[in-house]
Amino acid sequence: MLMTIDVLTLFPKMFEKILDESILKRAQNKGLLRMKIHNLRDWTFDSHHSADDKPFGGGPGMVMKIEPVYLALTTILNKKVTSNQKPVTRKRTKVILLTPQGKRLDQKIVKRLAEEKRLVLICGHYEGVDERIRNFIDEEISIGDYILTCGEIPALALIDSVTRLIPGVLGDDESLRLESFESDLLEYPQYTRPADFMGMEVPQVLLSGDHERIKQWRKKEAVQRTHERRPDLIKETKNG
Ligand SMILES: C[S@@+](CC[C@H](N)C(=O)[O-])C[C@H]1O[C@@H](n2cnc3c(N)ncnc32)[C@H](O)[C@@H]1O
Repeated sequence: MLMTIDVLTLFPKMFEKILDESILKRAQNKGLLRMKIHNLRDWTFDSHHSADDKPFGGGPGMVMKIEPVYLALTTILNKKVTSNQKPVTRKRTKVILLTPQGKRLDQKIVKRLAEEKRLVLICGHYEGVDERIRNFIDEEISIGDYILTCGEIPALALIDSVTRLIPGVLGDDESLRLESFESDLLEYPQYTRPADFMGMEVPQVLLSGDHERIKQWRKKEAVQRTHERRPDLIKETKNG
């Protein structure tokens, strides 16, 4: 299934390198991911192409203007967007604002978003986007409780995490199934050659060729590791 991701940004170049490498590049080449990076300045019409202005009421910094974002949205979604039209006009499309005030991104959200046909990501900058943007979006997403200078890095984190769940993107479906968070456990420890590095040896069981014992060892390690590092995941599973 093809997933289309539109990005509205003031800094389109920030996406070039990352989208042109490794699995994200391969997903596009395989026709599984279509990326459309839109420069918000293309929807500014004054001589300076200004996309930000001083905050009403005073205070530090600049605020991204609503008009370029609104015009970009209506153009790429090919219709006038009003808040009360949202459910009808955006079937299998989610318009997402990246903001530290949003819901914290986790693997459950990533999985849900990977089911959509199209995502439109709005990247803030400066002090963020004019509050009225919230009438035209479906969701607000944060990548964690810290402040970055821009929404481009969170958008890339979201693009990367969603893309790897698009069927066919990763060669080996097994690697998806066993990964951290897939079973509410962190992944077991992984090793590769050499079997002995400066006296640090790989656990013998992994060299035994006994698949059943290896499976049991990995399960035990995953549970222990989750207990030690992320007991909250285990509590969440019990409660949920
Ligand atoms: C400096 S931040 C603005 C923060 C805003 N003044 C506030 O306190 O909520 C600029 C932009 O970076 C992005 N951003 C920063 N931290 C983020 C986070 N943790 N998750 C998602 N986006 C973030 C958002 O797009 C935001 O509009």
